[in-house]
Amino acid sequence: MESKALLQHYKSSDLYLKNRAVMAPLTRCRADGNRVPTKIMATYYRQRSSAGLIITESVSISPNGDGYARVPGIYSQEQQTAWREITDAVHHEGGKIFVQLMHVGRVAHPYNKAPGAETVAPSAIRVQDKIYTDKAGMQDIVMPRELRTQEVKKVIKEYEQATRAALDCGFDGVELHATSGYLPMQFLSSESNRRSDQYGGSLQNRIRFVLETLEAMSSVAGANKVGIRIWPGSTLNGINDANPIETYVALLKNINHVGLAYVHVIDSSEYGVDSFGLVKDHYSGPVMLNGGFTFALAEQAIKTRKADLISFGVDFIANPDLVKRFAIGAKLNDADPNTFYTPGKKGYTDYPCINT
Ligand SMILES: Cc1cc2nc3c(=O)[nH]c(=O)nc-3n(C[C@H](O)[C@H](O)[C@H](O)COP(=O)(O)O)c2cc1C
Repeated sequence: MESKALLQHYKSSDLYLKNRAVMAPLTRCRADGNRVPTKIMATYYRQRSSAGLIITESVSISPNGDGYARVPGIYSQEQQTAWREITDAVHHEGGKIFVQLMHVGRVAHPYNKAPGAETVAPSAIRVQDKIYTDKAGMQDIVMPRELRTQEVKKVIKEYEQATRAALDCGFDGVELHATSGYLPMQFLSSESNRRSDQYGGSLQNRIRFVLETLEAMSSVAGANKVGIRIWPGSTLNGINDANPIETYVALLKNINHVGLAYVHVIDSSEYGVDSFGLVKDHYSGPVMLNGGFTFALAEQAIKTRKADLISFGVDFIANPDLVKRFAIGAKLNDADPNTFYTPGKKGYTDYPCINT
């Protein structure tokens, strides 16, 4: 029988993965009111540890980085203790797990933040959209305060501290969340970044925040334990870049030789941008592709060397044993979008596995 490329092990530098099927980062809003991971989160991740690599849901690096209800953090002792239980559970099953580090920047509402936490951004430009809050349902996203230059450097430090905390919690690596219109993407994109200091204005200045953040994270973990997720040209959460191709070519050129664990890129074809082609043409290190992959498409992408790794989102929500199903060609469960973000076990830890 022909061997399945997706299910072969992956080795690069000192990262060894038992297969190339990665669980994509998936926000599930199951943390408690203090953003501490709950016991059911340990069960959920343990159930999915046959993935070659799990990338956690987005996890905030600081109280200012919070923006959504029940999204976990990694900045308090209590949160870190709970994450340790999760990494232990995954490692116990022979899995590997990276944490996705997030700062929402301007995509926030005070109801989704601790008292005293602020909504900050590269520039004081409001996203004309609403955001869900547990307290009062949908609310207008608020006007952010522009970060002062010294504060930008402080945020970069927070990514460094979060990386240190992640390693102390037992994570195998960290991923910089630079998609979905959050803070790193707000710095990258021309319409949300109108700064006149070294973090805005020219293209080189717009990419500086991401470069310095990756450098700070790498200074703690080593570049080979740091990944970055990008979505060139996407407009989620009010983001808009006058020339995304130019922006991401510059970014990729600058990170091409730093030896990151991977560049994780989401398909941008719905935005008229060939993000996979962009990465293929301008990045020579390990590449993880995401967005609408079936097993057959993943096989093809790996066999034709378009990707080293493929991440699966919704299919991992509904199929804890996705890798096994791929291996034997079993039918997949369908996901229930109604329970993507609701608290509790329903639609979280109760998707069935196959019995073989
Ligand atoms: C419920 C849900 C939550 C998500 N949360 C995150 C997240 O926290 N971080 C992130 O980078 N992407 C997030 N995404 C995007 C997924 O990682 C992935 O890009 C998307 O589901 C497309 O991949 P797929 O076609 O394999 O599902 C989320 C998607 C879904 C459906």
